[in-house]
Amino acid sequence: TSASIRIDPDAVVAPLDRRIFGGFVEHLGRHVYDGIFEPGHAEADELGFRKDVTALVKELGVSTIRYPGGNFVSGYRWEDGVGPRDQRPVRRDLAWHALETNQVGLNEFATWLKQLDSELMLAVNLGTRGIQEALDLLEYTNHPSGTALSDLRTEHGYPEPWDVTMWCLGNEMDGPWQTGYMTAEDYGKIAARTGQAMKSAQRDLQLVVCGSSGSSMPTFGEWERTVLEESYDHVDFISAHAYYQERNGDLDSYLASAQDMRYFIDTVVATADHVKHRRKSDKTIMISFDEWNIWYLDEHQASDEVNDEWRIAPRQLEDVYSVADAVVFGSLLMTLLERHDRVRSASLAQLVNVIAPIMTEPGGPAWRQTTFFPFSVTSRLAQGRVLRPEVIAETVESAVYGQSSAVDCVATDGDDSSAIFLLNRSREAVEVTVDIAGLERSSIAEAVTLWDEDLSAKNTLEQPDRVGLRDAQAELSDGALTIRLEPVSWTAISLA
Ligand code: AHR
Repeated sequence: TSASIRIDPDAVVAPLDRRIFGGFVEHLGRHVYDGIFEPGHAEADELGFRKDVTALVKELGVSTIRYPGGNFVSGYRWEDGVGPRDQRPVRRDLAWHALETNQVGLNEFATWLKQLDSELMLAVNLGTRGIQEALDLLEYTNHPSGTALSDLRTEHGYPEPWDVTMWCLGNEMDGPWQTGYMTAEDYGKIAARTGQAMKSAQRDLQLVVCGSSGSSMPTFGEWERTVLEESYDHVDFISAHAYYQERNGDLDSYLASAQDMRYFIDTVVATADHVKHRRKSDKTIMISFDEWNIWYLDEHQASDEVNDEWRIAPRQLEDVYSVADAVVFGSLLMTLLERHDRVRSASLAQLVNVIAPIMTEPGGPAWRQTTFFPFSVTSRLAQGRVLRPEVIAETVESAVYGQSSAVDCVATDGDDSSAIFLLNRSREAVEVTVDIAGLERSSIAEAVTLWDEDLSAKNTLEQPDRVGLRDAQAELSDGALTIRLEPVSWTAISLA
């Protein structure tokens, strides 16, 4: 089949904010311990972080990294993770039923992020703790010197403040699984008070209030409305979390998962703007999509990986991703760009070993999962302004979402190059003609695609390079770009 696309440089969604390429590190399973941090490994640096993993995280191109949870943060005492390591307590983490040794905490993690050139985004615990602990953490993290907690940081060996500007007010407080979960009214009030207090300490903070844990939550929509009615004046972002998986072998519905993400974003935007107008506020709340990914949650829930034993760094949530997973993943990242006028920040959940684009073996290698590729290429090629192309394509049918366009497209336009990201969710190849006359580009700098005849192909310890990027078939002549999109594929083109 065929499709045609027109890219107009004036159809701007928003200037690109690189926080859309954020990541997320939670103290969970083998993410921190035996993942990014393994002091006994041949590749460990002086702090204990694996240099081979650091290199892969850099190549992935994550901007802001959210830390330390996730469900974990709702029982976390940040003080346990600072100061002399040999005096740090071992605690029980109720979220994942594991033991936390606290050998990595704020200062080690923030030091690691400096090497990556990534920005730190912190979450405060509003599950078992409250305003005072959030203020203490803020003082310890950001105050330059001359106060009890900033001087304590200096005493711990870190005289420079970490200057963290983005803060999450708790995590998934709508979820009955969350330690200390609340009703929307209760949470809205505590978030408002915590936000007000934190901004009294530092006016330029950007605060993220918890939205829904998923669009299928029974309180979805009403949660956002109530929480924002309470907290609107004190927050800047509302969070959104979404995970997708193929269910019952229904690949067509799975390939159309971006439809749910669009519905999620559009509903949150409508609700936030409803509250804005009721309050006659001139502030617009943005979305921080601070957890998104593919996650085979049903299978993990059916397994016994979270069990009654108290273990350190157990293997939990170690999904191995296929080519089909990476194609859906690519479409989700395209959707975040497509709605970038309101989704200004996002965090891929997560980074290493735990539902992650990067895997490691203790004492062994580190490798890229299939999902690594759409993320790293998009983060590297996207520049300047995000554009909304006009797409004329056939539709495909799925049981869950009905009709969806067979082809999705989003583009960016910078000073030196333009980038076009394309998705073919149909089972047939599509010949696409793209009118790029307005972009004034004369050559194809890069054309890559992720597809495979075997949609279930994966990268594993035994076969770490089974799936990778291939050259895409693309040609540019007389301002017309033609591209062949293989069946069920994700493609990126960079034009110079
Ligand atoms: O990313 C895994 C978990 O998913 C996080 O801890 C939680 O916030 C969400 O439910």
